[in-house]
Amino acid sequence: MPAARSPEPHAGLMDRVYRRQRHIYDFTRKYYLLGRDRLIQELDPAPGDKLVEIGCGTARNLIRIARQWPDLTLYGLDASEEMLKTARARVAGAGLSHRITLAHGLAEDLTPHLFGGVDHAVFSYSLSMIPDWRRALAAAGATLNPGGRLHIVDFGDLKGLPPGAEAVLRAWLGLFHVTPRGELLAGLEGGDAPARGRLTLLPGRYAFRLSAYKSETNQGSLCGLPVTARG
Ligand SMILES: C[S@@+](CC[C@H](N)C(=O)[O-])C[C@H]1O[C@@H](n2cnc3c(N)ncnc32)[C@H](O)[C@@H]1O
Repeated sequence: MPAARSPEPHAGLMDRVYRRQRHIYDFTRKYYLLGRDRLIQELDPAPGDKLVEIGCGTARNLIRIARQWPDLTLYGLDASEEMLKTARARVAGAGLSHRITLAHGLAEDLTPHLFGGVDHAVFSYSLSMIPDWRRALAAAGATLNPGGRLHIVDFGDLKGLPPGAEAVLRAWLGLFHVTPRGELLAGLEGGDAPARGRLTLLPGRYAFRLSAYKSETNQGSLCGLPVTARG
């Protein structure tokens, strides 16, 4: 499925990052992109739900979601055509092309026209690479059907790591154009965060998981997002 408009130049940067990395991506990332499988286990979708992963990479998550939740229809969006080459091959190899549709484009430009309304929007270690992550979250919120859910797993603020480790990790992630979104986590933990939010922090504040419902009234907001969280 083609993108609505050319996603350059960020897409070009992502292609350069992943042109070679995509071949070793899944094997190497399993050691430090923590919390992805727990997010998948806890999706708890209704039969027939539609789910989009925004920044789907190699489709590693989409394939696991398809196997764990057989009634879902799945979509993946990614800025990197290079990553999508691997994703398309993996999806076809898994015999899941009839359930998983992939598209090239920017998270910030997602509209309901691309895949239609969805019941679940997943960001797995992509917000830390998406330049305008607030706009990407707003776009995901606009694509969610009423009662739809937003699921996020990503790096935390790293503040609980041993002395020195935070700086080393930030510098290393920077080599891959990854920036932990501390402002997002602060907002989720701050005064506007609802009491029964499903926010889970991993040890050392290394990463966090969030599951939140789209606001039915449009009044609720979580860190400025058009969603509310409930337990
Ligand atoms: C760290 S990888 C995570 C891949 C996958 N979600 C996972 O958990 O294995 C981040 C992905 O986000 C994509 N990405 C980065 N910026 C993007 C943007 N603005 N719009 C869409 N995808 C983007 C990258 O191309 C890459 O595939």
